[in-house]
Amino acid sequence: MTSAEAKNNIKELTDQINHHNTLYYQKSKPEISDYEFDQLLEKLIKLENEFPELRLPDSPTQRVGGTITKEFATVTHQYPMLSLGNTYSPEELTDFDGRVARGLDGDPYEYFCELKFDGVSISLTYEEGLLTRAVTRGDGVRGDDVTNNIKTIRSLPLRIRSKKIPHRFEVRGEVFLPKDVFKQINKEREDIGEETYANARNTASGTVKMQDSAEVARRKLDCYLYYLLGEDNQVETHSEAMNKLEAWGFKVSPTYRQCKNITEVLAYIQEWEKKRLDLPLDTDGVVIKVNSLEQQERLGFTAKSPRWAISYKYKAESISTRLNGITYQVGRTGAVTPVAELEPVFLAGTTVKRASLHNANEIARLDLRIGDFVFVEKGGEIIPKVTAVDLDKRDSKNKTVKYITHCPECNTALIRKEGEANHYCPNEKGCPPQIKGKIEHFIQRKAMDIDSLGEQTIRQLFELGLVKSPADLYDLKKDDLLKLEKVKEKSAQNMLAGIEQSKIQPFENVLFGIGIRYVGKTVAEKLARYFKTMTALSQASYEQLLEAPEVGEKIAQSVVEFFKDKENLREIARLETSGLQFESIQKEKEKISNHLNDQSFVISGVFQNYERDQLKDTIIANGGKVLSSISGKLNYLLAGDNMGPAKREKAEKLGVKIISEQEFELMLKK
Ligand code: IVH
Repeated sequence: MTSAEAKNNIKELTDQINHHNTLYYQKSKPEISDYEFDQLLEKLIKLENEFPELRLPDSPTQRVGGTITKEFATVTHQYPMLSLGNTYSPEELTDFDGRVARGLDGDPYEYFCELKFDGVSISLTYEEGLLTRAVTRGDGVRGDDVTNNIKTIRSLPLRIRSKKIPHRFEVRGEVFLPKDVFKQINKEREDIGEETYANARNTASGTVKMQDSAEVARRKLDCYLYYLLGEDNQVETHSEAMNKLEAWGFKVSPTYRQCKNITEVLAYIQEWEKKRLDLPLDTDGVVIKVNSLEQQERLGFTAKSPRWAISYKYKAESISTRLNGITYQVGRTGAVTPVAELEPVFLAGTTVKRASLHNANEIARLDLRIGDFVFVEKGGEIIPKVTAVDLDKRDSKNKTVKYITHCPECNTALIRKEGEANHYCPNEKGCPPQIKGKIEHFIQRKAMDIDSLGEQTIRQLFELGLVKSPADLYDLKKDDLLKLEKVKEKSAQNMLAGIEQSKIQPFENVLFGIGIRYVGKTVAEKLARYFKTMTALSQASYEQLLEAPEVGEKIAQSVVEFFKDKENLREIARLETSGLQFESIQKEKEKISNHLNDQSFVISGVFQNYERDQLKDTIIANGGKVLSSISGKLNYLLAGDNMGPAKREKAEKLGVKIISEQEFELMLKK
């Protein structure tokens, strides 16, 4: 392909992808499947790797991340990012209204109401229509430059495609993790034995500051915009500014309303108190802004906040009820979760009977005693939580909680690892919920995808003693399945077909499915790609594992321990005999060019534009070879940031040429 052809193709693909992005993220009306979308993106990534000089500044490939940032640069905000004054009652709000009226000398004015989104505030700068910088609030004066991470947010335009836009403007908004995404992340973490996150806001904040933007992309952040700043915006009111933002393709929450007076504001507040709980993100109040920008300017700012805006905070709905007892749940990884058994009580639309207590520390922190009256709250989290004990109602006879010492399911003594909040049941192979949980994990969609079996079937198969581990599934006969409740010939056949069909699932799915602690789907993919076979992985040393992408000490240790266990090895051998995929069938990568002409490379350090395995693929696709150690025969040491000094020394001693990422990109172009 010539450079001119490539340029055309890149442009065409970019337009197509941007079009489908808008349909999906702004209009919620997709016209192609996710798979087709990913195919387009893949094609573009490939072309850009081949012709890096043709990569457009607003390329949609930036949304998949890949850039590693060691430390974020500190940036001074052009306009400081102030906070808002808070009010908690209609009276306080009426006082605010009085101050506004006096400040405007009796001139008429209007308000603009929005919900207060509970996320992380962000400032975005656009120059000549291009998103050039995204900065966190920081201390209000200076924040962190997190542009590469923010570019992964699909609903955010990387370029504004309107003719009449200011040369430069700033827009502010709130980055958040949608509730369902947060729930999914926690479910996945629980599944692989990681501690779950406390709430969506903190998780969003942690995600914005992650070093690896590819990981940020996987987290699926979203962003609502609510403030336009700049010298040349040609708007007179905040509502016009919001219309402009929408027209330029920014995502604006449809929940705003223009209000003529404080009475209408109070009605808005009341209306959204309950309705907001059904929104896809957490909100904790309402922001009330004077609509006219000229009037905003007249009212001005105090040292900390604008005089033209204020927030009204909703009280989290809370109710007191009796703690009848504490029960304990054991998960797939053996983690024990205490659950408060409550006297049923009606709260924010549903009857609450139980609340999670997280772990023993939480019980101690609350100083819970059985029989206490406790305050229960439904905050952003879907599961209600116990926030405090109503000490006025405490009966001195109430007994303190003694945390269990043995597993409620199998009576094994519990353990608590240093630095971990949870207690664990170590009886991995004999504790019923752990066994059932492992099988459920194994059959899930992202693993072996056996959807003809479900939780209830697994439970029965286990209780009848027919299945005690995933490998047993492959020995099941039709007669076994006919022993299950309500299972007839047809559904038994279906189940067997589903089990048989699962044998074609790729190696990475098998690897995820066998349930090595801390090995989630992404890590399983990386391991499969890096080690290629189950045998190679099972024989890898701790040090070799650390060399693989995304593998840290915790994961390396867990993998080594898994493959040391004799019973695990027997299980793995049985799965292999059953015919599961134990090797990754890497599609032969399409050859892009022969520019690297059989030259050999060792890759070391971290890179600006590539992940390690992307680099590896690029080298091979352009006719080069990737070696793992430096020798006299090696042609190039491709050095990223943070490469160890020993490697450099060795290369210098052996006369191996050391090249940077930029020099490497030049080699691709020649
Ligand atoms: S306007 C000058 N609108 O609340 C203040 N802020 O306490 C301009 N927030 O840091 C902010 N939802 O992160 C505004 N609809 C909304 C908001 C909102 C949430 C956050 C924002 C800000 C904080 C102020």
